Amino acid sequence: MTRSEIAWYTMNKTFTSSAWQSLITYRDKTSCTTIADLFDSDVKRFDSFSWHHQGLLLDLSKNRIDLTARNHLLDLARAANVESARDAMFSGQPINTTEDRRVLHVALRDRGKFTDQSVAGKVTEVMERLATFTTSIRDGRTVGITGRQFNDIISIGIGGSHLGPFLVAEALKSHSGPNVHFAANLDGHDLASALENSNPETTQIVITSKSFATEETLINAESAITWLTNALGSEALSKHVVAITANPEAASSLGIPASHIFPIWDWVGGRFSLWSAVGLPAALAIGWASFSKLLDGAHEMDRHFQTAPLAENLPVLIALAGIWNINIEALGSLAVVPYDHRIALLPAYLQQLDMESNGKGVSISGDVLTSARSPVVFGLPGTNAQHTFHQWLHQGPRNAATEFIGVSRPNHTLPGHHDKLISNLLAQSEALAMGTAGEYNKHRVCPGNRPSTTILLETLDPKRLGMLIALYEHKIFVQGVIWGLNSFDQFGVELGKHLAAHLLPNFSSVANYSINLNSSTAGLLDYYRRWRDQVK
Ligand code: F6P
Repeated sequence: MTRSEIAWYTMNKTFTSSAWQSLITYRDKTSCTTIADLFDSDVKRFDSFSWHHQGLLLDLSKNRIDLTARNHLLDLARAANVESARDAMFSGQPINTTEDRRVLHVALRDRGKFTDQSVAGKVTEVMERLATFTTSIRDGRTVGITGRQFNDIISIGIGGSHLGPFLVAEALKSHSGPNVHFAANLDGHDLASALENSNPETTQIVITSKSFATEETLINAESAITWLTNALGSEALSKHVVAITANPEAASSLGIPASHIFPIWDWVGGRFSLWSAVGLPAALAIGWASFSKLLDGAHEMDRHFQTAPLAENLPVLIALAGIWNINIEALGSLAVVPYDHRIALLPAYLQQLDMESNGKGVSISGDVLTSARSPVVFGLPGTNAQHTFHQWLHQGPRNAATEFIGVSRPNHTLPGHHDKLISNLLAQSEALAMGTAGEYNKHRVCPGNRPSTTILLETLDPKRLGMLIALYEHKIFVQGVIWGLNSFDQFGVELGKHLAAHLLPNFSSVANYSINLNSSTAGLLDYYRRWRDQVK
């Protein structure tokens, strides 16, 4: 890569600091060193570039970072005051400055011990309500209007009000307890399949929306309530529907009683809200004891993030490796490949966490950002991913870093599968790093020198999953601090919502539009209306 290519990635004024310049200069000096060279020159490289904490191992050794580069990266974190920013978040300062909000998802897993007692008190009260509700639904003490136990839960919500609970419910599914169906999409096919597989008499509907103003969630909620009340009458609402929201008035206006409304607060960001009442569908799926352990795991990672020195701090180290790959190696994409089907949803979860948090166009002080920040995050579970985009990872344009996640102990007893699975994970990271030395057929050459990070969990239990998700939350936060942006707002999603609302009145068959449309949008709308209205 040329210096001018690097310059694009590091052009913004944030990058003119001496910490950035030292990194860039060092990169120029060592640009011919490959990952294979790094392993050759230090046979114990794994020992210097891997860290573990309570059953979670982080291996950064297959990134093209040597000890000097790592020290420069740590200097960068120091220069960006990562530790003070972290302390400001934990102490409840309004670090989400564009919305003047505190960022306190960490208080949700502190089990009432959080230093700000007004926050801690609210958290404790809601956690107790959630525990009681979850347990009474799962053990059948709370029943529906016809006296039958709840066998199905339909969880309605989108984005941060969907992806976290969905990931956890799938990852830690238990054989006991109700079936939890998730419906997020505005597309009615999503909710329709959840409703088709449920019986209103034995179904609890959980509506999650922080704002209670999200189009997808509101229409899905209305349709689900109509389905319920058509079958059981409007009295069913009081027993069969709960809402989780920071806007209780809007939930009440649907007829949901106050006893069935669980609060969240403006200091919990949507994509960081799994740990609040938003996690209820997951708690219903896995049971309160497991949900509590998930919180404990996340809290353990918080404690580590708060207290470990930067050079041993897992969220800081994985964030810095990401920064090296994005800004210094100019790798604009990040493949996330969990080699465990239970966390198949992790790439989708991280897509929102990373791209909605750090996919920003301006710095926290409003300067236009002209250089790379959040990567394009994509992924699939391994080994499925090997049969889709891994060809591109191995031989395509060098544009991605990869994060592999593996688990040492499976939760099934099928012989032969698990060692084979993990041998594939290790083979993929090895092939990406080392390539095909000595191969002369050009079509078969894999150049290697492609970086990857591996996270290995001892087991996928609630505690380790909580630790893993919190590790990623803090990684994204640290990167946002170093890039000088606000990771906690998401104004970019507003324009499309606003335009959709303006377009909708033009969907009747009247030919005149109420707004100016360009020829593409008008042409597509004309075709859509014509084909929609054709009699079959
Ligand atoms: O995608 C935009 C967004 O605001 C997310 O940040 C949020 O998680 C999601 O929509 C859902 O919002 P709400 O919980 O208010 O329905």
